[in-house]
Amino acid sequence: MSEGPAGAARSSALRQRLLALLAGRLVLALAILAGALAVTAERAREGLSESERGLYATVVTSFVTAILCAAVQHRVRRLRAFAAAQLVFDVAVVTALVRFSGGADSFFAFLYVPITVYAALLFGRQGAYAASGLGALAYAGALTFEQGTGAGGLAIPDPVQLALWGTHAGALLIVALLASALSRERDRAGRALAERTRDLRSLRRLHERTVESLTSGLLTTDPGGAITSFNPEAERITGATEQEVLGLSLDGVIPGAAELVLESARGARKGRALLRFRNRAGQELHLGLAGSVLRADEESPGGYVVIFQDVTRVVEMEAQLRRHERLAGVGQLAADLAHEIRNPLAAISGSIQILESGSADGESDESLRLMRIVVRETDRLNALISDFLHYARPAPAKPEPVAIASALEDMRQIFESVRPPAVQLRVESPPDLRVMCDDRQLRQLLWNLYLNAIQAMPEGGSLVIRAEAPAAQAPAGDGRSSGPEGARERADGSRLAAIEVADTGTGIPPDVLERIFDPFFTTKEEGSGLGLATVHRIAEGNGGHVTVESAVGRGTRFRVLLPVPEAAR
Ligand SMILES: Nc1ncnc2c1ncn2[C@@H]1O[C@H](COP(=O)(O)OP(=O)(O)OP(=O)(O)O)[C@@H](O)[C@H]1O
Ligand SMILES: [Mg+2]
Repeated sequence: MSEGPAGAARSSALRQRLLALLAGRLVLALAILAGALAVTAERAREGLSESERGLYATVVTSFVTAILCAAVQHRVRRLRAFAAAQLVFDVAVVTALVRFSGGADSFFAFLYVPITVYAALLFGRQGAYAASGLGALAYAGALTFEQGTGAGGLAIPDPVQLALWGTHAGALLIVALLASALSRERDRAGRALAERTRDLRSLRRLHERTVESLTSGLLTTDPGGAITSFNPEAERITGATEQEVLGLSLDGVIPGAAELVLESARGARKGRALLRFRNRAGQELHLGLAGSVLRADEESPGGYVVIFQDVTRVVEMEAQLRRHERLAGVGQLAADLAHEIRNPLAAISGSIQILESGSADGESDESLRLMRIVVRETDRLNALISDFLHYARPAPAKPEPVAIASALEDMRQIFESVRPPAVQLRVESPPDLRVMCDDRQLRQLLWNLYLNAIQAMPEGGSLVIRAEAPAAQAPAGDGRSSGPEGARERADGSRLAAIEVADTGTGIPPDVLERIFDPFFTTKEEGSGLGLATVHRIAEGNGGHVTVESAVGRGTRFRVLLPVPEAAR
């Protein structure tokens, strides 16, 4: 028969009580034995009377039985029947003790009381009444037997003994009443406790699950700022496990967060902030944090709780939006103006060229030189305006499958022709990687990145241009991947190949890095600041994006991510 968990708990409690009963019986038997020995030691040499021998035999039997029961108990399956049998046996032992130690004069009659109490503990009310009834009957038997033998057979009960028996039976009944009430109360308290424990456990489980399934990082600290808990999302964002950070200071795990928490403690108990954070994998993330005081009671702070999220993508998108807005206003006006300037510029250039070609021999060298300057500068101005118009009003991209290896090889030959000798150039590409891109625009993009890299390495260095197929398994696909590597999967599910242009040049300081894709942003005397703006625009126009990583003094790495053709996905 299979027991439920409640049944199993009950039978293990019963087993424990039985063991206690056995232990009590052993101790009692030993005590009686020692007492009897002390009393009869004097007369031991003269030989023992029949009653004394009976007394010893009873005590020894009880002793041996208790040991045997203890030995077999763990193998017994019908525990309740086993317990009932022991109680009956105990009544018999006590009755024998009473019988052999003087019947009505015996003081062992009180032993019916503990049996009744134990029966109440083991079997509740019915057990208590049954044990007390059995005890009263057995006692009556002992008294009658004694009287019978003393007066030579069964006789009318002696009124004194009847009164004695009545007192005993009444006392046993009262004990049974009290013990069963007590045992009922105890059972009720036990049940209530078990219920509360169950409620508490399920409440704790609910709490744990809630914290675990939060999509925000959540940590708590003690009043000193040492971390006391760290949920799975917090582990994912920081790259550190709960085991590693428990007990560490908040600032040791998220630098700058402690100040925010202190601020919230001083102020309105709530603080929010945006922090830059480098996780264990080396990714630069933007974290949005909210901290508040966790109060144990009204006076003393129980610590702090900090909730945080990886908002890198949001911050990037905001920056992108700002960039677009900036261009939409001033840029559009400038584009119109540039377009208007082009026509008079063409007229000036054309007129000067006519003047130059039709000039008589007598024209001074000086005039010719000046005319050439005008032509050269108008050409330069025209090129700048063309570049700008190209950026501001690009021809719509016509994405087509482009074999990256051959496109990169073409570009390599062009790069080689203008490569400063101190710069090492390496180009790598998987042989049959294709991307969806406007071929002409792709070359323009590579050219801009190449020029920037060369310009960043005036003393020489190494330039690596490397194409990379889409990651075999798109990372998690939860739309949350971000950071320097950039997402390798777009929201629509298409996968992205990468073209990386990495130099060992001057690098870009963080405050400049934020602005390099802005149109007209340049740090160069001769620069227009349109190179990277164009790169950015081309990548986006072809369904991809650009990311950049840079370390001052060590170099810069641009990654252009472009979709691969449908069939290759
Ligand atoms: N590889 C690089 N290493 C260091 N700094 C770079 C690199 N690429 C770009 N930059 C920085 O970004 C700025 C903007 O670059 P961008 O190509 O848009 O304009 P530019 O190179 O200054 O001018 P243009 O390309 O129009 O001649 C540069 O002025 C430079 O400070
Ligand atoms: Mg440039």
